[in-house]
Amino acid sequence: MIKVAIIGTGNICPSHIQAYLAFPQRCQIVALSDIYPEKAQERVQQFNLNAHVYADYHTLFEREKPDLVSICLPPYVHAEVAIAAMEAGANVVCEKPMASSLAECDRMIEAEKRTGKWICCVAQNRFRDDYMGLKEILDAGLIGRIVHAQIDSYWWRGHSYYDLWWRGTWEKEGGGCTLNHAVHHIDLLLWMMGMPQRVTAVLSNAAHDNSEVEDISVAVLEYAGGALAQITSSVISHGQRQNVIFQGENAMVGVPWQRYASTSMPNGFPVENTQLEAEIDAMHQAHQPLVHTLHAAEIDDVLSAIEQGRPPFIGSADGRRTVELITAIYESGSTRRTVELPLKTDDVFYTTQGIVENARHFYKKGASIENFTDEGMQNSFGR
Ligand SMILES: NC(=O)c1ccc[n+]([C@@H]2O[C@H](COP(=O)([O-])OP(=O)(O)OC[C@H]3O[C@@H](n4cnc5c(N)ncnc54)[C@H](O)[C@@H]3O)[C@@H](O)[C@H]2O)c1
Repeated sequence: MIKVAIIGTGNICPSHIQAYLAFPQRCQIVALSDIYPEKAQERVQQFNLNAHVYADYHTLFEREKPDLVSICLPPYVHAEVAIAAMEAGANVVCEKPMASSLAECDRMIEAEKRTGKWICCVAQNRFRDDYMGLKEILDAGLIGRIVHAQIDSYWWRGHSYYDLWWRGTWEKEGGGCTLNHAVHHIDLLLWMMGMPQRVTAVLSNAAHDNSEVEDISVAVLEYAGGALAQITSSVISHGQRQNVIFQGENAMVGVPWQRYASTSMPNGFPVENTQLEAEIDAMHQAHQPLVHTLHAAEIDDVLSAIEQGRPPFIGSADGRRTVELITAIYESGSTRRTVELPLKTDDVFYTTQGIVENARHFYKKGASIENFTDEGMQNSFGR
């Protein structure tokens, strides 16, 4: 039986609890920790857990000796807690983003090597039938070489969203909607299309004058071979209508599901390629539905990784790569110049301090509220 501890019992914590509870023969939640222990106690009651509550995660690690630790904390403490968990002998499931900076990601990766433990980075949207099916079609090469990707990471959050104490600051939230919302779509893009060579971005804050960080960014990514990807990260988009669209040389496919294939007439104008569309449709329909989805699916993989002695499907290299691209977007948007990848360790945006000192600060953080109720959280991406 795998002993699980969860650190941080706010909004995302129930997704972890429910995921572990889906596998009662394989794991047991033995402890929860939060700097507000009454919040952890509420979770114990809400889910009828047989788990101890701790205000301090160090004491939890010492007394409970968990095999697996879920980190559901603000980004600025991910590295510190992940490293402490691995040093205490546990593998880690770390909520997105992996950390606030590449320097912190690298410290976490160094701790993996030193302790022999690993970090699974949460990117639960890979475990959705629509995205998994899209990835299968791209991998099969049916649309040909990808020439353009359009990622609309459209969300909407009201002004008060940034009043929570750790949000809306470069130091604690680590960034705005690019890091904390578009991170999901950026992980999907990198999974499907790989890393670009350079990034040019514009950051802005158009509607949240209580926050230092951006509420919209537009980034253009240049790939070897000439392909472009554009990512719009936003928390000012009513209706949250999100799109992931890949244009290949032979056809386009996207989520929400869409496809179109063209061939060229002798004069270069398009004509619909219904034969290729039929092949794409057949592959789309042949997708085997996942047994579990979202957090439950990722936790299933993590439990299997422990049982089988293998690394998890989504590990620290994936988490780091996502943070690297987002850092490049912040650097480009703050310095108003194009940024080449990979970022070097002497890059001024490599450390959290470098980001805090050099990222564009839009407004002064306003109110600082200790806790909201978690009502309304459920319209989040994929949940
Ligand atoms: N995967 C997803 O879809 C998804 C959705 C929402 C949030 N998240 C991520 O989950 C993380 C937490 O976000 P949230 O919305 O649950 O935040 P939250 O503020 O609702 O919860 C965080 C909890 O951590 C506690 N905490 C803070 N510092 C602590 C410390 N040092 N030790 C112990 N407890 C501490 C807080 O008291 C709070 O209860 C963030 O990294 C966020 O980006 C992921």
